[in-house]
Amino acid sequence: MTGQVRIKLLISIAMLAVASAALADESQTEAGEALYVEFCAGCHGDNKSGLSQYSGDLASLTDRLEGMTEEMTDFAGFFEEDEIAAMQAYLSAPVSVGE
Ligand code: HEC
Repeated sequence: MTGQVRIKLLISIAMLAVASAALADESQTEAGEALYVEFCAGCHGDNKSGLSQYSGDLASLTDRLEGMTEEMTDFAGFFEEDEIAAMQAYLSAPVSVGE
């Protein structure tokens, strides 16, 4: 294999890796949306309208779900860590217009 071919091959592999990372992000956000619709939208509104300003990270969202106030359901131990991560990805994604 010549040096140039090898470099082209490496570049293609790198681009593939970037593309699949973007895909993974998107399906994580979609999984988060599905959880949100099922468990949160009843109080927080469709299309996360009630939480559109929320910008907490994963640790703070995890804390927030553990019955911090009387007003919100206590979700302590209810979600897996990757489910909370998915909801956090959904909450921090831009709100899509027209949904
Ligand atoms: C029974 C109604 C109810 C449900 C269900 C509910 N929430 Fe809440 N949530 C509230 C209320 C009311 C508040 C504001 C008062 C408070 O802080 O508890 C709140 C506050 C929050 C906050 C803090 C907002 C801020 O700006 O700091 C976050 C984040 C949040 N909820 C996320 C969620 C997520 C994620 C779910 C679904 C897993 C969920 N909530 C389900 C009622 C609910």
